[in-house]
Amino acid sequence: MTIGFKLTEQNYRYLFDNASDAMWVQDMDGNIVDANMACEKLTGFTREELLCKNVREFVAGEFLEMAREVRRRLLSGENIVQPYEQRLFKKDGTTVIMKMATSLVIIDGETKGFQHVARDVTEEKRMQENMRFYVQQITRAQEDERKRIARELHDESSPPLLLLIQRLDAIASSQKPKFAQRLKDELEDIRTQAVEALEGLRRCAQDLRPRILDDLGLVAALEWMAENLVKDYGIDTKVEVTGVEKDLPDESQLLLFRIAQEALSNIRRHANASKAWIKMEFHDDKLFLIVKDNGRGFEIPQRIGDFASVGKLGLAGMQERVRLFGGQLEIQSESGQGTTVTVEVPI
Ligand SMILES: Nc1ncnc2c1ncn2[C@@H]1O[C@H](COP(=O)(O)OP(=O)(O)O)[C@@H](O)[C@H]1O
Ligand SMILES: [Mg+2]
Repeated sequence: MTIGFKLTEQNYRYLFDNASDAMWVQDMDGNIVDANMACEKLTGFTREELLCKNVREFVAGEFLEMAREVRRRLLSGENIVQPYEQRLFKKDGTTVIMKMATSLVIIDGETKGFQHVARDVTEEKRMQENMRFYVQQITRAQEDERKRIARELHDESSPPLLLLIQRLDAIASSQKPKFAQRLKDELEDIRTQAVEALEGLRRCAQDLRPRILDDLGLVAALEWMAENLVKDYGIDTKVEVTGVEKDLPDESQLLLFRIAQEALSNIRRHANASKAWIKMEFHDDKLFLIVKDNGRGFEIPQRIGDFASVGKLGLAGMQERVRLFGGQLEIQSESGQGTTVTVEVPI
């Protein structure tokens, strides 16, 4: 490729001044030596004011520490992830959250200072945080509601059914009035129906909020789910726990349980698998929950969140919930090679 012309210093100046991202240059002591117009907007100071300032006036506490670390790494040639997140104080005292990239200013082979490009992401972050809060509240409300319905099914709706079955049993076993065979068959039928209804209710209550989770904890609940998969669907499911098992807060247990529940329901409904594995790996400061199958696999969209827009909320919901806990979700899947859902959460 041939370049038809060479940009002049003036052209570059224009680009610098008018860029929509804030840019500034500082010397080795942190004194600002140049700043563009977007920088005025970002900080609330005019360019003239900025040129008399030191960057330390804008950053404080842990963020000053971070600035020092970036500086240290750049000078020693170590790797840093760019852009990184940083905060600074505006003229009016409010805080701006920025996505920022920093590099060395090298002139004639000598390091003279640092140059920064920064984008204000305060609004975006705030929206994200609000969104997270919202998701958290909804999730909580949903879980409370599930718990309430499960309890109601268990405590209010099941006992009368149980009583009905017992009464039917009593009639069937009392030989005194000699029932016609037809009536006996009819009674037996009614009993079978009542038992089925009761089992349905119990299953429904268990799915809503398994008591085993509250009573015996996560691993027991995972084993219980695995057993159900074997029993009801013929999928050979194994549970494995490695590392030192730790007591997890209720919310984390519930999170991991719901993820495993959704992943297993996907295996049941979509995977056509003969085998599944649930693995919990405990580490010192984090844990992994891995749910794997040997089924048909599927094509993962670029963003899991995209599933949500077509009404598929399972995987997208999983991802949101994991993020709420500061964790990460990873899905691997390949046609004919099965699917692996891996969740990492800090503990
Ligand atoms: N274990 C799996 N095996 C095969 N396909 C899967 C598996 N898990 C998810 N999928 C595919 O990913 C899609 C999205 O899953 P999900 O978000 O849980 O939505 P839903 O289960 O409601 O369809 C499913 O419709 C299915 O096509
Ligand atoms: Mg699903």
